Amino acid sequence: DLTPLIEAHVRDIPDHPQPGVVFKDITPLLAAPEAFSAVVDGLAAACDPDTVDVVVGLEARGFILGAPVALRLGAGFVPIRKAGKLPAATLGESYALEYGSATVEMHADAIAPGSRVLVVDDVLATGGTGQAAVRLVQRAGGTVVGFSVLMELAFLRGREKLSDVKLHALSTV
Ligand code: PRP
Ligand code: MG
Repeated sequence: DLTPLIEAHVRDIPDHPQPGVVFKDITPLLAAPEAFSAVVDGLAAACDPDTVDVVVGLEARGFILGAPVALRLGAGFVPIRKAGKLPAATLGESYALEYGSATVEMHADAIAPGSRVLVVDDVLATGGTGQAAVRLVQRAGGTVVGFSVLMELAFLRGREKLSDVKLHALSTV
């Protein structure tokens, strides 16, 4: 159980980025190599390495966690980015955030049809980001075989937006 390690290394920042939101700051975890490594192993444990072709990481913190997970699984890494960042032709999905709204994009040719995909992010909150990511993968013809997060904020019920997906949360708040 990685909950104590995560609780010890993820910092609550009250009223960031706006009043009433408690921001989960993972930078202390990233700065602690043993904790970072244990968390990468935990996120990768959502899937057998033989059952994953691609790890998709969600900008920005999902990049930091997802890339080492991809290497551990022997899978490729594909970024889903905020709108306007990717240079080639993209697919896009808009969604509502815990605070504000946003659009995310993926390169249209990033995922070969039939690819088995593990999605990685730091926090599952309302589930809007995750749901948009799952839709992008599915529109590209991929199959989401798992969705790994460091922390699930259960009171925001993001899990309900990912009901078709095997969700693997290393800790729950
Ligand atoms: C945060 C977090 C997740 C997302 C979860 O990212 O890193 O990606 O929100 O929220 P949701 O489940 O309500 O969609 P944010 O959009 O703040 O961007 P960042 O990762 O680039 O900091
Ligand atoms: Mg994020």
